[in-house]
Amino acid sequence: MIGIIGAMASEVDGLKAKMTDCKTETVSGVEFCSGTINRTQTVVAQAGVGKVNAAVTAQTMILKYGVDAVINIGVAGGIEGSLKIGDIVVADRVVEHDMDTTAVGDEPGFITGIDCVYMDCDVAISNRIYECAKQTGIHTIRGTIASGDIFVAEDSVRNRISEQFNAAAAEMEGAAIGHVCTMNNVPFAVLRAMSDCANDDSHVDFPTFAAEAAKKSIEIITLFLAEDVK
Ligand code: ADE
Repeated sequence: MIGIIGAMASEVDGLKAKMTDCKTETVSGVEFCSGTINRTQTVVAQAGVGKVNAAVTAQTMILKYGVDAVINIGVAGGIEGSLKIGDIVVADRVVEHDMDTTAVGDEPGFITGIDCVYMDCDVAISNRIYECAKQTGIHTIRGTIASGDIFVAEDSVRNRISEQFNAAAAEMEGAAIGHVCTMNNVPFAVLRAMSDCANDDSHVDFPTFAAEAAKKSIEIITLFLAEDVK
């Protein structure tokens, strides 16, 4: 079974609508919809915004549904220079850009316990998602996705995340899901469509373009779920 997590209704409702034999269950206030999408056994959840909501949802999918992999879908603020609103980033790795124990000598982003800064996405799943994204003709890149409990809407914050982590995009959940999956040895991937460019215009661009961008990530993950090799 594949677990798919989005933060907002616009990031998952269109996918849930494609599910047949949907069973729902609410755990920790999060609704999990399990069933079949394009012949693939899937559980889809709307986690809510931010790292803790995403972490609780990923851990529940692992413990209660025994998922073989978790995929995070939705929207993000583009940072890499070629990205425009509507473009796609498929993560190679994720980082928590707000994890900061530098005062005691650690590198920015270092996570004590799993003892790393970057968490690697599953290569085979990410490659397949990337191929599906390219099939749509949308400009798609691979790179680092940086997550934190901050909606990035200032050039100065965007520049800090770019310089410290060479991030292609910023959002608020992917690395939390990566963190939980790394702790549990479960493969994970992150697919994001750009709703804004994580800059001084984001407070206007995000509300204008988020719903349209979210549809693109749903379109791509639907193609992925239609593939025969799981
Ligand atoms: N999700 C979409 N745009 C974002 C931004 N600018 N910052 C954080 N998360 C986002």
